[in-house]
Amino acid sequence: MASSMFSGTESLTLFSSKTPNGLCFNASNFHCNKRTGFNSSTSNFNFSNNARVRHNYRVVRTIVPKCSLSASSSRPTSQPRFIQHKKEAFWFYRFLSIVYDHVINPGHWTEDMRDEALEPADLSDRNMIVVDVGGGTGFTTLGIVKHVDAKNVTILDQSPHQLAKAKQKEPLKDCKIIEGDAEDLPFRTDYADRYVSAGSIEYWPDPQRGIREAYRVLKLGGKACLIGPVYPTFWLSRFFADVWMLFPKEEEYIEWFQKAGFKDVQLKRIGPKWYRGVRRHGLIMGCSVTGVKPASGDSPLQLGPKEEDVEKPVKPFVFLYRFVLGALAATWFVLVPIYMWLKDQIVPKGQPI
Ligand SMILES: C[S@@+](CC[C@H](N)C(=O)[O-])C[C@H]1O[C@@H](n2cnc3c(N)ncnc32)[C@H](O)[C@@H]1O
Repeated sequence: MASSMFSGTESLTLFSSKTPNGLCFNASNFHCNKRTGFNSSTSNFNFSNNARVRHNYRVVRTIVPKCSLSASSSRPTSQPRFIQHKKEAFWFYRFLSIVYDHVINPGHWTEDMRDEALEPADLSDRNMIVVDVGGGTGFTTLGIVKHVDAKNVTILDQSPHQLAKAKQKEPLKDCKIIEGDAEDLPFRTDYADRYVSAGSIEYWPDPQRGIREAYRVLKLGGKACLIGPVYPTFWLSRFFADVWMLFPKEEEYIEWFQKAGFKDVQLKRIGPKWYRGVRRHGLIMGCSVTGVKPASGDSPLQLGPKEEDVEKPVKPFVFLYRFVLGALAATWFVLVPIYMWLKDQIVPKGQPI
């Protein structure tokens, strides 16, 4: 148990299929208790109309991992952050793709985390058809092709620069690699057995639309596995998160999945081992959310036109100003894992950090 807390892996299972209205999350139940760590082994968490979430870990009284569910209020998703746009994300990855695999992933998205996050996707058959949306340089795809034949896997991303890196990877040479938009997927309805998306939702101007697309392209009984950030509770991290990109709250993920029509929605917490379960800074890869498509065809959720018109011209100086501010805020989240790593080195093992 302790090891699972240190690796930051916990599972939250939604075991009512009702869609909650407004999702009044009982956050106080979910916060770590200062003295006892998690305050109950089987606590249930009430949503406004009886949908419930539970966690399946036991109390460990001697270890006090400072963690929290994202209980503080975040900016509404209707007010996108500076790099929560397709155009800004395109330029962000124009530059970041150069160092992405060497600098960004080791701090936030390790191979251990990836494999744990993919485990609920249940990649149980080499012949499964899998789409990896926002697949970027193919880091998550490398985890997928351990279980599924590469020829059955499609990597989709809006950044040709990120995809160029994926194309260079030998284990991915048989994958289909295509440019496209997560909010408007070029796959037919009922196409795939598994939908995977890791670390991409934070750039989507309309996350609900992307999750609705996940539902549409899956076959009956197919499973979506969406891996993404969680909202910080520490005030400075919250500030930089709100400037940079979308860090959804855990309950927001669940709500989006339910509204899209998914059943058996589950959320598993993930995090780098050296964080010892600390979640107050809002992990960039903080949870893996899964849901099963219960009926063939399109999602029951109807949406209006897309939020962002990528064809619309931008004002260059406004764009640059937004882009620079967003990128500066991102720097905070490069420093946080270094700070946590140093703390992990200094504070004796078994103590909270
Ligand atoms: C943090 S990277 C994650 C890459 C990869 N999934 C991984 O695990 O390393 C996010 C990726 O999402 C892509 N992305 C952002 N918005 C997108 C959109 N609307 N449609 C498709 N891809 C998008 C970016 O280009 C980038 O490659």
